[in-house]
Amino acid sequence: MTDAATATLIPLAEVDPAMIEALLDRAFGEDRHQRTAYLVRDGVEWLPALSFAVLDEEEMLTGTIQTWPVALSDPQGRRHPMLMVGPVAVVPERHNQGFGQALMAAMASGLDPAAPLPQVLIGDPDYYSRFGFHAGPTQKWDLPGPFERHRLLVRTDNPAVLPEHGTLGPWR
Ligand SMILES: CC(C)(COP(=O)(O)OP(=O)(O)OC[C@H]1O[C@@H](n2cnc3c(N)ncnc32)[C@H](O)[C@@H]1OP(=O)(O)O)[C@@H](O)C(=O)NCCC(=O)NCCS
Repeated sequence: MTDAATATLIPLAEVDPAMIEALLDRAFGEDRHQRTAYLVRDGVEWLPALSFAVLDEEEMLTGTIQTWPVALSDPQGRRHPMLMVGPVAVVPERHNQGFGQALMAAMASGLDPAAPLPQVLIGDPDYYSRFGFHAGPTQKWDLPGPFERHRLLVRTDNPAVLPEHGTLGPWR
């Protein structure tokens, strides 16, 4: 069986939106819109420069990653811009073949190397820790809906810039 080494990464903007939605329904279920992550990015559009699709060796849509502009509002009312990564989704029959890793690498390569914004996501720490995401700095952050605290993860080169307290929401 071939794997992600033979895959093709393309901008997500080149993919039919209906195919993206169908893939996400398969990965997360059709009730996925109720999830708190959707409230965090409510009303904003994903960023084309940081959102990708991966096609397999037969050019079938195999996975997607989206990145959104969000902000952490601190108790003083200051808004700290951040990037929300996700959903990251790979079709079930191609799990554990490197497609998720390829999508994460594509996203990371699109970040401004001089001034990357902190990246947040809600996901399994056992998977995302390999990409440098950790729950440590988010322990006193809040979201606009229910969430599991150990799954609220952030990645930054400089954790000192992160507020200790704050609520994540869309960047407007
Ligand atoms: C999570 C997901 C994106 C990973 O993509 P993938 O292409 O299957 O994974 P990769 O091939 O990049 O990585 C495989 C490795 O990650 C591990 N892994 C995969 N999913 C994991 C998870 N949820 N928790 C912990 N480890 C995980 C595998 O055991 C494997 O480990 P190894 O390298 O030590 O053998 C994919 O499984 C998926 O789409 N899941 C359903 C949707 C989802 O939960 N998305 C994440 C929330 S945004």
